[in-house]
Amino acid sequence: MVNHFGLFRGPGYELVSNADFQERPPSQVTSCHPTDLYKSLAAVVIDTGTGFSKCGLAGEDRTRAVVPTRVGIHRSPQGDSTPYYITEDAEAACSTLIRGVVSDWDALEVLWNHIFYSKLCVDPEELAVLVADSPVSPCTNREKVVELLFECFGVPAMQTVHQALLTLYAYGRTTGLVMGSGHGTSYVAPIITGELERLNISRLDVAGKDLSEYLSQLLLAGGQPPPKADVLTHMKETCCYVTLDMVSELCQVEGKYRLDFVLPDKHVLSLGAERFRCPEILFKPDILGLDQPSLPQLAQISISQLEPHLQERLLANVVLEGGTTLLNGFSERVQRDLGPAATVLSLPHRAIAAWLGGSIMASLDSFQTLWLSRGEYQEEGPWAIYKYHL
Ligand SMILES: Nc1ncnc2c1ncn2[C@@H]1O[C@H](COP(=O)(O)OP(=O)(O)OP(=O)(O)O)[C@@H](O)[C@H]1O
Ligand SMILES: [Mg+2]
Repeated sequence: MVNHFGLFRGPGYELVSNADFQERPPSQVTSCHPTDLYKSLAAVVIDTGTGFSKCGLAGEDRTRAVVPTRVGIHRSPQGDSTPYYITEDAEAACSTLIRGVVSDWDALEVLWNHIFYSKLCVDPEELAVLVADSPVSPCTNREKVVELLFECFGVPAMQTVHQALLTLYAYGRTTGLVMGSGHGTSYVAPIITGELERLNISRLDVAGKDLSEYLSQLLLAGGQPPPKADVLTHMKETCCYVTLDMVSELCQVEGKYRLDFVLPDKHVLSLGAERFRCPEILFKPDILGLDQPSLPQLAQISISQLEPHLQERLLANVVLEGGTTLLNGFSERVQRDLGPAATVLSLPHRAIAAWLGGSIMASLDSFQTLWLSRGEYQEEGPWAIYKYHL
């Protein structure tokens, strides 16, 4: 398949180079200035999500690592000099991101340090770094990302690109309506010929984390104590599904949807309507008492201000991103709610679509002039990032 960027995508996401996508041989690199060193090297791509951070090298078709966005904090009365540490333990972790927005920059530094040195085994002083910008983060957070990368990690060059744009790249399109649902945030973002319609981005504060919490509540209400967090998450991911219509599903014989889930201690949890009641909160947030539109309604709202012909083009290219969109039945329900004019596209690798788009974008020859270099940062400060309109 040849897409709009002239990329050829083979089976299993192998990116095959052509005129627009070439891993440049070192001989083509003419620069000899030390700060231009990154131009001859691979770049690092990082998408730090509320739940998981995806990282790897540009030009590759798979992430090198997906690590939980979890940083622990020692709260010792002695006042530790390095209070942060990497942990797998959800209970011990502090909130590095809250609903897609960085809330603790020191914790993020510890996490990225872990990603560079322990997960990717690279020296950030030798590589350009592309960061996927959160769809809901204030623009000014970009300046902090710039400072963190240049001041703390000494990168030679960096760039941030909005996750929705990166996602659309992964789908090989320049126009489309990106619908994302991850761990902390869900959002809809229209993009027309490569331009993000920033004013029309809409968010919904219901995502994977809320689904897990709601599943726990449903189990309790049904008289079954919920298992601990990681088992509950596994249960959600393997057993829950989105119905086309919850009322008709409830009218079915219960045996049709009842399923036993075996816990690690061999006890059995019997799941019934919880399986589809849980993800229904994405489509009926009022179940949680939220006065917010559903994700498909959000899509309609976000394009409603645009010209009718643009609305048609966007609806014909709805693309999904984020782990929660992997739920069985998710894309079918979005399709049904948006109506026959819509075409909903769902890559099998949509949980890492933003990272994948970053991997493609950072490898394009045309992108190499778009890196913010250390020299520019030193001359113009972190605000230099806004010159690029990415
Ligand atoms: N097969 C699946 N079915 C349902 N949910 C899933 C599945 N796989 C992953 N998830 C959920 O997706 C969420 C993680 O997705 P993702 O990595 O896209 O989020 P994130 O990038 O960390 O968060 P955000 O983008 O909201 O800041 C978790 O809540 C996880 O339980
Ligand atoms: Mg995400």
